[in-house]
Amino acid sequence: MKPYKVRRSKIDNLGLYASKNIQKGSKVIEYKGKVITRKQAEENPKYDNGKAIYLFNLNKRYDLDGDFKFNTARLINHSCDPNCEVTGTGLRVWVHAIKDIKKGEEFSYDYGFSFDKDFKNYPCRCRSKNCCGYIVREGSRWRIKKIKSKKKMKKILFITPRNPFSGRFSGDVIRADKFSNYFAKKYSVTIASLDKINNSKKVGKINLITFKEYNIFFKLVQIFCKIFMLKPMQLGYFYSKEMKTYIENNHSDFDFIFCQSIRAAQYVESLHSKIKTLDMGDLYSSNYFQTFKLKSFFNPIKYIYLVESYLMEKYEKFCFKNFDKIYLFSKQEIQLMSNFKKKNIST
Ligand SMILES: C[S@@+](CC[C@H](N)C(=O)[O-])C[C@H]1O[C@@H](n2cnc3c(N)ncnc32)[C@H](O)[C@@H]1O
Repeated sequence: MKPYKVRRSKIDNLGLYASKNIQKGSKVIEYKGKVITRKQAEENPKYDNGKAIYLFNLNKRYDLDGDFKFNTARLINHSCDPNCEVTGTGLRVWVHAIKDIKKGEEFSYDYGFSFDKDFKNYPCRCRSKNCCGYIVREGSRWRIKKIKSKKKMKKILFITPRNPFSGRFSGDVIRADKFSNYFAKKYSVTIASLDKINNSKKVGKINLITFKEYNIFFKLVQIFCKIFMLKPMQLGYFYSKEMKTYIENNHSDFDFIFCQSIRAAQYVESLHSKIKTLDMGDLYSSNYFQTFKLKSFFNPIKYIYLVESYLMEKYEKFCFKNFDKIYLFSKQEIQLMSNFKKKNIST
């Protein structure tokens, strides 16, 4: 009795099935065909598609063409978790069981297709748990998984006044570094920040885009402009027209935008289409107000803090309305903002 029978397959059209239990290592069926020379195979347009399904390499000189009706083994489908393999001895090729196979199971082997630009033309329907979705040999499947995981990764734009790779060291830089590492575990991260030069580079998995910081004169001009617009001076301190243009032109490439500190909020305040999160830990308005109270009555800087505290509070409230999610760190800050609780606040 033959150990196989032809049946309709769930993988593709017809397949070959075990007609009895088969032990690992047993021969299942001979892969029959015509022995042809390598030269004949190369010259024959029949094998031109690069995926020579029926062609087996026997040795340096000969191949076996199995594309004939008498070759029942040609009906064996591919699987990413195969139960057979095809091996040759001399000029004969056999399909062997590489697992114990139960009666009624479909035989399959790895077609051994290489990974190339056409891999998408060969979708796999083997339904095995580890199926990579395409008929590609085991050793190359990691490439497909890599492409898929890259594709699946959502993109986040992280806007921070503190470039975590600047080499500087401060609490804000550490926070920016922690945020970016955390995001990089889940998302494809692009950091937008200011630095000494315009630059775009990859740091590990992270895309880092920096825009040249204004010199002190232009910063002062920006700070005055912000006061004039009744906006906090802090925003002028972290402003770059180039960065604003970049974000406005590219925000649609990202799934989320995360701003570290209220200074970064200015770049996205007018964007409506994106999920926007703002880290407002360190409520600047209350910090400035505290500093105002601490400074001596005769110190003129005291009054700058008062003005900034007022402008900042106004802007923070605006951000509460404008952002999808706000992060605050202390209970006092949450209490201060409790009037605006309609937003999703996290600590
Ligand atoms: C050697 S034939 C296998 C027998 C085929 N099922 C038939 O009925 O003629 C190879 C063809 O079967 C299909 N096939 C084999 N394994 C497959 C799989 N895992 N997923 C999708 N199609 C498969 C592909 O169309 C492939 O070109």
